[in-house]
Amino acid sequence: MTFQYHPEIAKLGAAHLVTPDLDKSLWFFHEIIGLEITARTENKVYLRAAMEHEHHSLVLEAGDRARLDHVSWRVRRPEDLEGFHTILTENGNEVLVEAPNREDGYGESLRLQMPSGHKLRLYYDVDKPGVAEADRSVLLNQRYKSWNRGIGVRRIDHVNLWTTHDTEPQHEWLTQNLGFKLREYIQTPAGRLGGWLSVTPLVHDMGLMKAGPLETTPARMHHLAFWLDNAADVLRAADIVVEAGIKPDMGPGKHGVSQAFFLYVRDPGSGHRVEIFSNGYLIFDPDWEPVEWGAEDAALALTMWGPTDYVPHTDDNIMNTTTEA
Ligand SMILES: [Fe+2]
Repeated sequence: MTFQYHPEIAKLGAAHLVTPDLDKSLWFFHEIIGLEITARTENKVYLRAAMEHEHHSLVLEAGDRARLDHVSWRVRRPEDLEGFHTILTENGNEVLVEAPNREDGYGESLRLQMPSGHKLRLYYDVDKPGVAEADRSVLLNQRYKSWNRGIGVRRIDHVNLWTTHDTEPQHEWLTQNLGFKLREYIQTPAGRLGGWLSVTPLVHDMGLMKAGPLETTPARMHHLAFWLDNAADVLRAADIVVEAGIKPDMGPGKHGVSQAFFLYVRDPGSGHRVEIFSNGYLIFDPDWEPVEWGAEDAALALTMWGPTDYVPHTDDNIMNTTTEA
């Protein structure tokens, strides 16, 4: 028997978001969401959460309009970059090798695009900047003080992408090219409404959903999620958001898929939707069978209880659905 080597993705690393109002977006993500700033340039700010060691889990970049630039994923071993390069090119994908870029803390990385149009980046080598003493946790296993600022999210959790393309081939592409496992999905007679996929024991590191009938752009971001330890922390987050003059977009509530507790809120500078996320279950079974929800189960799959509609926004700067990729 010959041993077959498979490159692996270890985790979701970061989302790179473009915002038309960098100052307001920075206020939201730094003061309200509670991310810490690790680096900044004239038009970009790099941020990370209290538990995170890597250079950043969020990049905010000033631009004309709100959009998702790309999502970065950390591979398990340095040699996995070459492994993925081989698999991706053999499967007919275009892959760009990017030289180390110490502005964003990354060593060599790969740039690629999903068939949906969403742009991804793979990296292994990454800077892990230290923390100023005034902000450092007394805990040796934590970077920043707990509750240092705002909601004080603990780490990035997942990204949820939307596409106007059929989602099933996208899920298959993620499985075949990048080793994602499909964990749960909603199948309707009209096609697959969405799927939740992961490379970790989380139910999803990425959600990929079918865009609504009014969407025209093939690739969008629906939301970026950050983790809190428990549901009470999400309720506290709702108080903080409202005290800051921001009406929550939806929630708190509980998803059927993933069984997680959620609160959605929009960045007032860009309209990018953030999910504050907790609870849920983990998957350890190596032979996990993807859970299929039918059309009749779709409402329960999306929301077990709690509100089911997003609050309409009147601000022209904020689109009511999703931000473009
Ligand atoms: Fe989510």
